[in-house]
Amino acid sequence: MSDFKRFNLKTTEDLRAELKELSLELPISSDLEILKDRVPIGRRTLPNRFVVQPMEGFDADEDDFGPTELTFRRYRRYAAGGAGLIWFEAAVICPEGRSNPRQLILTEENLDVWKRLVEETRKAAMQKYGHEIVTVLQLAHSGRWSKPAGKPEPLLIHHNPPLDRAVGCDENSPLVTDYELEKLRDLFIQNSLLAAKAGFDGVEMKAVHGYLSAELLCAHTREGKYGGSYENRTRLVRDCVSGIRQLIGQNHFVTARLTMYEPSEYPYGWGTAAVPGSSEPDFSEPIRFAQELVKLADMPVFNFSLGYPRFQPYITRPYNNPVEGDPVPPEHPLEGIVRFQNAGRQLQAALGEVPLVTAALGWLRHLMPEVAAGLVRRDWVRLIGQGRQSFAYPDSVNDILTEGKMDSRKCCITCSLCSQIMKDGAGRNGCPVKDGEVYRPELQKGRAAAKLRRNI
Ligand SMILES: Cc1cc2nc3c(=O)[nH]c(=O)nc-3n(C[C@H](O)[C@H](O)[C@H](O)COP(=O)(O)O)c2cc1C
Ligand code: SF4
Repeated sequence: MSDFKRFNLKTTEDLRAELKELSLELPISSDLEILKDRVPIGRRTLPNRFVVQPMEGFDADEDDFGPTELTFRRYRRYAAGGAGLIWFEAAVICPEGRSNPRQLILTEENLDVWKRLVEETRKAAMQKYGHEIVTVLQLAHSGRWSKPAGKPEPLLIHHNPPLDRAVGCDENSPLVTDYELEKLRDLFIQNSLLAAKAGFDGVEMKAVHGYLSAELLCAHTREGKYGGSYENRTRLVRDCVSGIRQLIGQNHFVTARLTMYEPSEYPYGWGTAAVPGSSEPDFSEPIRFAQELVKLADMPVFNFSLGYPRFQPYITRPYNNPVEGDPVPPEHPLEGIVRFQNAGRQLQAALGEVPLVTAALGWLRHLMPEVAAGLVRRDWVRLIGQGRQSFAYPDSVNDILTEGKMDSRKCCITCSLCSQIMKDGAGRNGCPVKDGEVYRPELQKGRAAAKLRRNI
């Protein structure tokens, strides 16, 4: 590993030199035309290769958990920004599964508001570009990281000593039963029908970032039908995906965001070598499972990620500044970016014709488009996802596709203040740096709440 370094690159030549110094490989292409390609997604066609990755805004209505005016604003901005696919953030399947009291939930009662959100998002893209976008809703349960009333109420799949300590649990804390998991499976499936009724093109089963479904994949030490063998650990996600496929009909598709790497030491992680105490990556199970899921549900597109954002966030989203209290990452952010893109490269090769969406390119700022074009030209991945940049600079896509570049002054600076809002829990989530009028007060609200907690 090389020492951590903050972003100080001006040109692509600087980036090439830095990669060479670190002995890292990342494809780069100065011809951005390939990013304008239309890409078939099953029966639909994306107008370009850009995707808004799911980003929780925690701005739901506190009574009915549905979208609010701030939610509408975020999605209108994404659509007007130009991305061809908008992957809506984690909406949980039940109130207990929220990681924040204002996390979105789709219910029979608030279905009409969701319908309007999807319609207005589509309309914003149509009005500005005359193109149809594709929309996907991510369905989730926060599992171990549940905080429905602002305090941890973890739902544990297995015992993982460091992660148990992180949520105030130990080896005596009870695990969720198989029966309770089956009830959650049924809720995932039922919720997908609501997503189809709301007008989403696709429904995604979230299995990343240490949340419920991702933790199931790691449950080597759990007993019963959801633990131990590969078949048992993957059972719930597989059953949800096939149940959703059967229920939502052929006008809608099913997809997944699958973790390639939950970096706990064996036997507590996923995508790690089966050597006791090792957390070295070994993607054979994740790749096998991705192939099985795609085949099982005829998935037209696939998404992935790596790491636990609440524990080792630099693996999921390489950054310049950690959230308050977190250590400086033990590696150069380019090492994280290359690890992520290499995982994508292996997965895309295994998935053949099915386009894979990447992420974790935010640290590159205005140098991202040439890396994105390089990744697509070399077929490491087919679609370019943006997470933090969609908060900070949603119309970066339009600038790339029409001007051939991003404006470096508008770029996300990977300062982690949006993650700080998330961690503090009290504010609504967006970019307090580049969208400060709306989100600086939200950051301040969160900071004040955190200070109060510390002083109690
Ligand atoms: C504030 C915040 C909220 C996020 N919410 C979600 C989410 O709802 N679902 C999800 O799968 N990933 C979520 N992510 C991860 C992003 O989708 C993305 O993978 C990550 O930020 C790295 O990509 P980037 O460099 O483009 O930001 C979130 C990340 C951040 C910083
Ligand atoms: S707060 Fe804004 S600039 Fe900072 S990481 Fe988040 S999106 Fe980027």
